Amino acid sequence: MTASSQGSIQVPSWPVHDDAEERNLLAVLRSGAWFAGMTGSDHGTQTVHLEAEFARSQQASHAVAVANGTAALEIALRAVGIGPGDEVIVPAYTFIATASAVAQVGATPVIVDVLEGDLGLDPDQAARAIGALTKAILPVHVGGQVAEMDRVRRLADDHGLFVVEDCAHAHGSVRFSVPAGGFGSMGCFSFQHAKTMSGGEGGMIVTEDEQLALRLRSLRSCGRTDPTDPYLHGLLGWNYRITEWQSAVLRAQLERAAEQRARRERSAARLRELFRDSVDGIVALDPAPGTGNHNFYYFTLVLCEDLLRRVGKDALLHAVRARGVPASGGYPRPIGDNPVFEHVPVRRLPTPVTQDLCRRLIHLPHYLLLADDATLVAVRDVFRHAALRREQGHTA
Ligand SMILES: Cc1ncc(COP(=O)(O)O)c(C=O)c1O
Repeated sequence: MTASSQGSIQVPSWPVHDDAEERNLLAVLRSGAWFAGMTGSDHGTQTVHLEAEFARSQQASHAVAVANGTAALEIALRAVGIGPGDEVIVPAYTFIATASAVAQVGATPVIVDVLEGDLGLDPDQAARAIGALTKAILPVHVGGQVAEMDRVRRLADDHGLFVVEDCAHAHGSVRFSVPAGGFGSMGCFSFQHAKTMSGGEGGMIVTEDEQLALRLRSLRSCGRTDPTDPYLHGLLGWNYRITEWQSAVLRAQLERAAEQRARRERSAARLRELFRDSVDGIVALDPAPGTGNHNFYYFTLVLCEDLLRRVGKDALLHAVRARGVPASGGYPRPIGDNPVFEHVPVRRLPTPVTQDLCRRLIHLPHYLLLADDATLVAVRDVFRHAALRREQGHTA
């Protein structure tokens, strides 16, 4: 792995790549088969291999590769017939795609609050949000922490709802002994550049249901329903196919994914130990009960009220970034507060926990957890120093 110097902290570079990506990309180039085929993953292509390998890694029966994670969510909702007149329950602390995919299929997102402990959808509030129009629940595994899926699953079963999981952050994550994407009808992953597997862009849907997999394959490739007749269109589809370049890179990324995740888990445990009782006003979020594997797309820090008053989140972020720590302030507002929903239908429940988390959370990116121990100690020291500065009369 190469390391680049940003300020005083040596931040591992991302994405990681080596001969494996180069070999696979050259193989695609020389083969002349740059396109995954009319079906979106024709026999023998990189994409058909990626689908099989990713399905195995997620213990899923079927995996369907698509252009990106947003498309994955949209196709998944279409595949179970969600459309105008339907409501889909989504959490407030997430990226816009979780709700915009619902709106794109003509349904109404119903935005509920999240739990402080795992940052995922609050099943109690979701229960109160269920009405006659509710068709599905779309939980998000924020930062790689799988949401309270035992309760979400039970709620969905009790009310006859579909569960579509937004697993954009959760490659390889496990909770209650079930891999992300395995609790619901489908799990939707992203391979956008920042994710723990990068294809530049890319997405994948996993499912246990063979009929759903067939529908997904049709919807991602212009609604084709017969691989031998490319001009027969049985469904209203779109071109959401992934390219062979992306699949070639992603196959190499997948080979490293489990080892990198294990390394991030070790680093996360070490960073939590380093932060424990040693950085005034900052608490590292523990994995939620029942968590097995954790992808650690984010390593999450929670700022206490006293630190927010003394230093402030923006000043703290400014100070640590100046020392090269690539910290982010997380989602700045509940998704329902975005101006898009001034003209796109939405139903919002009160989201006080999300509002509070938007003020208090800082996320460190996954690639920082690929750093050596000295760097992890230095990261802690940078936060410790930044948390003290204002108090001592310095400007941040
Ligand atoms: C929670 C969440 N859902 C969905 C997406 C959409 O993925 P993509 O950027 O691949 O369309 C993202 C990503 O960026 C995300 O963070």
